[in-house]
Amino acid sequence: MGVFVAASAVLLAEPTFFDVTYVINPHMAGAVGTIDRVAARHQWEALRSVYQELGLVVEVLEAVQGLSDLVFVANQCFPFVAADGAREVLLSQMRWPERRPEVAVVADWFARRGITARSLQDPGVFLEGMGDIQWHPSGRALLGGHGFRTSAAAYDDPTLTSVAPVHPLKLVDEQLYHLDTCLSPIDEHTAVVCFEAFDEPSREVLRGAFDQLIEVPYDEAVRTLACNGHCPDGKHFIVHHEARVTAERVRQAGYEVVEVDTSEFLKSGGSVQCMKLMLH
Ligand code: ARG
Repeated sequence: MGVFVAASAVLLAEPTFFDVTYVINPHMAGAVGTIDRVAARHQWEALRSVYQELGLVVEVLEAVQGLSDLVFVANQCFPFVAADGAREVLLSQMRWPERRPEVAVVADWFARRGITARSLQDPGVFLEGMGDIQWHPSGRALLGGHGFRTSAAAYDDPTLTSVAPVHPLKLVDEQLYHLDTCLSPIDEHTAVVCFEAFDEPSREVLRGAFDQLIEVPYDEAVRTLACNGHCPDGKHFIVHHEARVTAERVRQAGYEVVEVDTSEFLKSGGSVQCMKLMLH
């Protein structure tokens, strides 16, 4: 088994070449050519400041021309700590050819830091990094979304199961296509969730995994990607500012809400969780 180490740093990817140039999720339909790069840069910088103000070290990955989705740096890998304490990274096998070149860019970033990269045994299986894999904050298990991007078979792969036991969760709504668009663990007891995104057995798994599930209404989950909000420290939930019902419920549960504007990134089907990679 691997070792669970809480993250103290976060990787963000510069939005210089962020764009919507193809459609690989329903949010992107109609958004091709509509990105305001100046606004996107401001939104990204504001998010970077939020992480810094919360005390996290922010590392930055340089943008690469032509890789318009690289800014969603949650997707290209899954970093973990191996049983011997070594930092390693499991590289993604992206479902869509448009995004496959991003993996080498992120792999190179880790290689330059001396971090060993691993791959799944089966090159024909899809895996989209932390877009679909989440740590249960207890550190005892992983939650793994599948159905639209990651293949269910990825969760039987020994490279992944040797890190921690995986609870597979089946996603059933195309609008909420990655696990991080419908689930955001806050702490060991609490997670923000949109139930409509999961099949019934998966909902049961979630009810068993958390004492408190803060429910996000389906329309808000789709419109604002409220479940793509992110809690880096067990206290603060960073979320797109239009997720009003979610923000209210998170506050009522005793957490602090930090509102950001991710409207340009929502056009591509991403918000806070997608735009960061936690580093252990
Ligand atoms: N346009 C990107 C895609 O469809 C958005 C990725 C958002 N990332 C995430 N972790 N949900 O692949």
